[in-house]
Amino acid sequence: MSQPLFDDILARLDTHCDVSATREVTYHAPAAIAAALRDADGALVTLNDRIGAAEIDGATRLRAVASVGVGYDNLDVRALHARGIVATNTPGVLTETTADFGFALMMAAARRVSEAERWLRDGRWQGWGFHKLLGADIHGSTLAILGMGRIGQGIARRAAGFGMRVLYHNRHRLPEPVERDCRAGYVDRDTLLAQADHLVLVLPYTPDSHHIIDATALARMKPTATLTNVGRGGLVDEDALVDALQAGRLAAAGLDVFEGEPAVNPRLLECRGVVLTPHIASASLATRRAMVALAVDNLLAALGIGPDAGRPPSVIPVPGERPPSLPSFSPSP
Ligand code: 8YV
Repeated sequence: MSQPLFDDILARLDTHCDVSATREVTYHAPAAIAAALRDADGALVTLNDRIGAAEIDGATRLRAVASVGVGYDNLDVRALHARGIVATNTPGVLTETTADFGFALMMAAARRVSEAERWLRDGRWQGWGFHKLLGADIHGSTLAILGMGRIGQGIARRAAGFGMRVLYHNRHRLPEPVERDCRAGYVDRDTLLAQADHLVLVLPYTPDSHHIIDATALARMKPTATLTNVGRGGLVDEDALVDALQAGRLAAAGLDVFEGEPAVNPRLLECRGVVLTPHIASASLATRRAMVALAVDNLLAALGIGPDAGRPPSVIPVPGERPPSLPSFSPSP
């Protein structure tokens, strides 16, 4: 694993396993990941750990990779399955926390919160300026959500309190009762872009969604609109975004994720109308603990240990594939 997590939660593994834990945040090179996996039965990983065919090549004992996070673009799940390795993630436990943050980031971008604070801290507040730092309203505006899974739905439900009109686009249209609960209307992607006052991205990152917001998509948006990304950095062509912001073709952006994170495109750092946060959408203490706890449950169950032996709570689904079969025995601790 690339991160120190919560020792008291990881202690549940110690009873059953010989645990080798990382003590500081590390970006492991592929060879280091391969070396760490070589003699392991299971791995608890985060999005920093990219695991595919090359990393598991020599890992003959490996049976389970439990990722801490809902997004799993760090894992080549098909390659893992081909080797009989089960992959799990942590959906559900971070939905509301991430939706809170997505909403907050959208509001911060629209109302220019970071820019206003920088201006104040720079000692530039010499008198109240009626025309200073004017932003876009949230209430009564149109919220456009691209990717209407659990988190998208959570953001939609929050929008009701602000009297927003909610539109969404998703690979699959949601059942009518869910649409009603979210007060959200389904539209095609181009309509979503054109009607958005505030566009929020919460879709998974896949080869199909790479740079889904590129120069062409941005050109479809209103110049008064904002863009917020709490999905993955690769969803947005960051250079095209900076071009649009600088040319006044988009009002503002809120980004919690970046294509080369932890490195941030220097053009974004220079750009005034962007609120930038370091991938913290799920970062409340309670939620991060719940994510690690679920990942530990998944790992133990995938290794055939404990009450859920053989039935990890959240196996990553792969369309058209059954996950490898798991041991369903529960060895005594
Ligand atoms: C996590 C995330 O912080 O769940 C996700 O997909 O991006 C974040 O909530 C991250 O995955 C930790 O590994």
